[in-house]
Amino acid sequence: MIHKPIRKAIFPVAGLGTRFLPATKAVPKELLPVVDRPLIQYAVDEAREAGIEQMIFVTGRGKGAIEDYFDIAFESEVTQRERGKDLSALDGTRLLPGRAVFLRQQEPLGLGHAIWCARDIVGDEPFAILLPDEFMRGAPGNGCMKQMVAAYEKVGGNLVCALEVPMEETPNYGVIDPGARDGVLTEIKGLVEKPAPGAAPSNLILPGRYILQPEVMKILETQEKGAGGEIQLTDAMASLIGKQSFHGVTFDGRRFDCGSKAGYIEANLSLALEREDLGDHIRRFATEELAR
Ligand code: UTP
Repeated sequence: MIHKPIRKAIFPVAGLGTRFLPATKAVPKELLPVVDRPLIQYAVDEAREAGIEQMIFVTGRGKGAIEDYFDIAFESEVTQRERGKDLSALDGTRLLPGRAVFLRQQEPLGLGHAIWCARDIVGDEPFAILLPDEFMRGAPGNGCMKQMVAAYEKVGGNLVCALEVPMEETPNYGVIDPGARDGVLTEIKGLVEKPAPGAAPSNLILPGRYILQPEVMKILETQEKGAGGEIQLTDAMASLIGKQSFHGVTFDGRRFDCGSKAGYIEANLSLALEREDLGDHIRRFATEELAR
């Protein structure tokens, strides 16, 4: 069966980023670098690699720098070119004209509300969602969203990335009530956002990659506040289970929760250690530092 292609991706970037204050007082969390590229760049690259054409950014007050980041930095680029500088580091930062949409969530009412703000741009197509502070590292050329699109092409419907974490971490996440597993696909029987300690139906969490059918927007329109007093995407998805197909996709790769300080530092270290220009230096430094 042919399923409608996934052409659009939503990047919700309107959150307050309080766990990174004061760094995020004036700089959006999504522009914090992992080594030398901002988090949002990795997420956009991941979407592009999966064949997604239109990037929809749900931003908020104080997030204007994200829009500038994906534009041409005209004065700086002209000056650097005149000075004979190599500008290849900027490849991938300019989005195709007309293929980026920036819209605002006026109040940070929750992830579900942020997604709903993009309803008119999404229209009646299935779409992807990527949370940029979740840094997903697949093998080169086979990122998380690409793996999810491959799964979608087989089964269609709604798909969420599914990730195992230690049971004690489940109260921080959306959690899957899993059914039968078949290869990378797990049937989803239920979803619960931030379960109380000991109440999670499994240790399979939602790490921030989704492919959803447009009907979820209708549900979000009237979605009541849930965990943390926020309008939760997980709750809206949960009420579609049974009416539409829902699967979890096990991601082949590594995930760094860059919304947390520990995860962010781990991502920087891991990437730096892999880099030809930095790996040896950082390895030596870390060895000396650990021996102190
Ligand atoms: P988080 O739960 O990580 O919240 O949101 P946050 O505000 O970014 O960070 P902390 O917890 O205060 O440190 C998950 C994702 O949902 C987006 C965030 O930008 C992030 O990508 N989000 C969250 C919104 O776009 N709007 C919201 O109202 C809430």
